[in-house]
Amino acid sequence: MPNNPLIPQFPEPIWRAGVGLPTFETMTEDQNVDVAIIGGGITGITTAYLLTQSGQNVALIDAGSIINGTTGHTTAKITAQHDLIYDELIQHIGEVRAKQYYQSNTEAIQFIQKIINENNIDCNFKNEDAYLYATTKASKQKLQKEYDAYRKLGIDGDMVDQIPFDIPVEAALVMKNQAQFHPLRYLLPLIEKVKTNGAKMFENTTAVDVETGSKPKVVTRNGFKINCNHVVVASHFPFFEGRGFYFARMYADRSYAIAIKSEKQYPGGMYLSVDQPKRSLRTTTFNDEEYILVGGENHKTGHGVNTIKHYEALEDWAQTTLGVREYPFRWSTQDLTTIDKIPYIGKISSKYDNIYVATGFKKWGMTSSAVAAQLITDLITKGLSPYTDLYTPSRFYTDPGLKNLVVQNADVAGHFVSGKVGLAHKKLKDLAKDEGAVVKVNGKRAGAYRDENDCLHLVDTTCTHMGCETEWNSGDRTWDCPCHGSRFAIDGTVVEGPAEKPLGNVQLED
Ligand SMILES: Cc1cc2nc3c(=O)[nH]c(=O)nc-3n(C[C@H](O)[C@H](O)[C@H](O)COP(=O)(O)OP(=O)(O)OC[C@H]3O[C@@H](n4cnc5c(N)ncnc54)[C@H](O)[C@@H]3O)c2cc1C
Ligand code: FES
Repeated sequence: MPNNPLIPQFPEPIWRAGVGLPTFETMTEDQNVDVAIIGGGITGITTAYLLTQSGQNVALIDAGSIINGTTGHTTAKITAQHDLIYDELIQHIGEVRAKQYYQSNTEAIQFIQKIINENNIDCNFKNEDAYLYATTKASKQKLQKEYDAYRKLGIDGDMVDQIPFDIPVEAALVMKNQAQFHPLRYLLPLIEKVKTNGAKMFENTTAVDVETGSKPKVVTRNGFKINCNHVVVASHFPFFEGRGFYFARMYADRSYAIAIKSEKQYPGGMYLSVDQPKRSLRTTTFNDEEYILVGGENHKTGHGVNTIKHYEALEDWAQTTLGVREYPFRWSTQDLTTIDKIPYIGKISSKYDNIYVATGFKKWGMTSSAVAAQLITDLITKGLSPYTDLYTPSRFYTDPGLKNLVVQNADVAGHFVSGKVGLAHKKLKDLAKDEGAVVKVNGKRAGAYRDENDCLHLVDTTCTHMGCETEWNSGDRTWDCPCHGSRFAIDGTVVEGPAEKPLGNVQLED
């Protein structure tokens, strides 16, 4: 196995390497605009691009740095092959809507290509076929059903017997003419364009509330407001619920990725296993050299306590399958899944007409964000979109959503209760350097991390979003919440929302 260095030696995804990122000021006065966009990921930026192109006056804010959320850590396959989905969609929402889902995501690929062509963007956009592969007989049957769904919906795809790797497969399902790109090289020119179109952009500016009404005001943590006509909530997990009960209708799932230089020639294509553990493959180039991105090892956020094992599992698999020459990048991130697996895009709830949301992309946000940007722009500028009903967050398809809702809520409830009374995972005195764990301090559950200088960092592990108990993430050295995916640094500061406040302090009593 290649040398397996600790995370701080390469915490960044490959996308950030060698890319000059812009910085923006913090917002220090009230703003008056047509549209306030909250969130500077691919969703917020693409929406800002379309709205400013159509003459809207826009302010976009981000709690941290722009394109450093899930978008900065994605795998960036651009495809309508969203794992196994079409057979399930036909069962639950019928053929007409399942076809709309495929159509909207296929149009999204064309939309991205059009933006690239119009703006002459050099982002390594490349058409590739996308493959789902099965390594067991049971999943081969699932692929067969998915293929039947492809035929019913007129999707350009085929069943094949093999894929060009040393992986024994039962079958694979190919969707033709999909794509991949470098997500930051795609978005940086769009950010420039958005600026040129007159949008105001701010970083380190956290939205904490919306004062609703015909002229809503987005309230930021430092007290300044954005006065506007429309609010677009593109903050990944919605920072404002708008009575949409998002906390009960989505869960966060983490995955891991490594970028390797391989001993073998990559045969082309993008691959995803349908069996567990998940494995995802594509290539990219950096400094004119080819790297293979290997992804997988997904688990619900806050559930994969020994996360370093996930990187090791990917590395072992890559070594066996591809032969690893170098292993210079690795990273992890999370995305949100809705109860019926279809994103929530549109008005945040039936209660508010001028607040929109785009979330729940289930790790397929490259196309879903393009769908969202167009749908929301259409709603703001024309009042209608062909995809309103399919994606409306106000929908309640009860089957299988209701069952999943119960499961998700039971899980959340479990973390409220069992987290509080849960046993400490380790004694404080047994913590090694560079180790974190749940411990008992002053008779209560606390989170402890002992750094390389033997200095202890203690936090109250209770999440400041809705009170679930966070768990230690040894891979990223963060405290992760299993309920809605908030993440906190070793000193308790928020790394990722929906939590807005840091974890509480814990002091050792003498
Ligand atoms: C491991 C992994 C691999 C993936 N691979 C693929 C892939 O191959 N293809 C694909 O299509 N999709 C993929 N995805 C999914 C895709 O990356 C995401 O769906 C997409 O990047 C989400 O973009 P976003 O703009 O909605 O969110 P983000 O990129 O997370 O942006 C949200 C922004 O909002 C900001 N924010 C949050 N709260 C506030 C607040 N209160 N105030 C102000 N700002 C706030 C955050 O700082 C952040 O910058 C993958 C996801 C994962 C987890
Ligand atoms: S309770 Fe919601 S993210 Fe922690």
